[in-house]
Amino acid sequence: MKNIVISLFALASVFILTSSKTDKKYYNELYRPQFHFTPEKNWHNDPNGLVYYDGEYHLFYQYNPKGLEWGYMHWGHAISTDLVHWEHMPVALYPDDNSEDKERCTAFSGSAIVDDRNLLGKQQGDEKTLVIFYTSQHCGQRIAYSTDRGRTWVKFEGNPVIPFDETDDARDPKVLWHEPTQKYVMVLYRKTSEDDKSKGVSIYTSANLTDWEYKSHIYGFYECPDLIPMKVSNRPEELKWVLFDGDGTYLIGNFDGENFAPESAKMRSDFGRNYYATQSWSNIPKEDGRIIQIAWMRDGKFPNMPFNGQMSFPSELSLTRFNFGYKLTRKPVKEIELLHGKLHKWENKKLIPGINQNIVKGVKGDCFHIKGDFDLKSCSNFGFYFRNSKKVTGTELLYDVKRGMLSVLGTSIPVELIDNKINLEILIDRTSVEVYVNGGQYVISNCFTPDAGAEGMTLFCTGGEVMVDKLEIYKVNSAWASKK
Ligand code: FRU
Repeated sequence: MKNIVISLFALASVFILTSSKTDKKYYNELYRPQFHFTPEKNWHNDPNGLVYYDGEYHLFYQYNPKGLEWGYMHWGHAISTDLVHWEHMPVALYPDDNSEDKERCTAFSGSAIVDDRNLLGKQQGDEKTLVIFYTSQHCGQRIAYSTDRGRTWVKFEGNPVIPFDETDDARDPKVLWHEPTQKYVMVLYRKTSEDDKSKGVSIYTSANLTDWEYKSHIYGFYECPDLIPMKVSNRPEELKWVLFDGDGTYLIGNFDGENFAPESAKMRSDFGRNYYATQSWSNIPKEDGRIIQIAWMRDGKFPNMPFNGQMSFPSELSLTRFNFGYKLTRKPVKEIELLHGKLHKWENKKLIPGINQNIVKGVKGDCFHIKGDFDLKSCSNFGFYFRNSKKVTGTELLYDVKRGMLSVLGTSIPVELIDNKINLEILIDRTSVEVYVNGGQYVISNCFTPDAGAEGMTLFCTGGEVMVDKLEIYKVNSAWASKK
């Protein structure tokens, strides 16, 4: 009996020791983002098929299950009920025709909708069918559907719904419902002739999801389009349409269901280097009403990591009429609060130049949500250093008052102060810095690979004082902690 008890005890200790070891490691590697989405392993790029259905946000993504480099595209899949905690799901889409090729017939980017009207005729019981539109590279635009809340996917028997044309470079269908014409609309990247200038977005419509009619083409776009109807925040009766390009630039205009008529020049929604292939969630309930967007943070570096790539933090878009015209603003989704940890807070605190005047010296760590309003008074330079230590200077975020320039990680943009003040909202994760300026009028999203162990922060000014009207620094907890 004693022997049995001892061996059970030994077995239990081994179990506890090994499981706590693996748990601590899960999503806790040196360059593993803690609140930005990454797959467990391998390469990923564009977000795909973003759709909300019955309490669940679906995030699909371009995924290479074979390794750390691009190729052999499948659709990876994750589900969240709150946009911050993600549950990994099995791969949703495989290449067509059992292709083993790096590119041919692999599952390139696309979108997803809820088939509310059961147009595809696949609905089983009360559960609506989810429909994916994707590019089967060099094998046409195709459909896959799910009748079990996105858990399993079936390729549509009538594929492709738009056949491959080898003179074209068509890809990345984004589909949306257009209420006034009672039709579905598809925006599709195309290069309609040999001439590079023909690159743009084509608009198709369909009354049944499977027959698509070409309607128009807008030049000057490349990859991953998105078309979004948006209420103007300060003119609630007004509706505008925003046409996004793959690089996060956009046009604002009007859309009659077949033609997009731009009213603005192309504008940038992000000024950093790492915001690409944006897509907005479809089917967000009316009561919520948000436009929620996510992007692939292209070109990030993740040395010695089992994965290669990260998504941006999901953000909420608003369209506002300013005195100079319409413009988008962006802010992180409010669900970031679910991950808030310890708060450091200052109000009406004077910041004085000098090396020993760092009011945030007690803040240590690698993941933060910072919100601050600063009156730049008489200073000439103001900013933060993140991820610094006695040994390393870390990453500088600098506002140069005379030049009116905000700089971080190699990106510099002109930012006008409002009544001599600047408003900053900053998300820092292990491999990214996202800076939202003046209520999200400008956003800079950049990746970085900070020094291991450098977990300090400095708030500085030179040449004169700054008044910290308000500063809140939340530590951000790992979104994967509950899985550790
Ligand atoms: C954009 C893109 C898309 C394409 C996908 C392939 O990053 O090139 O146009 O569908 O990636 O992975």
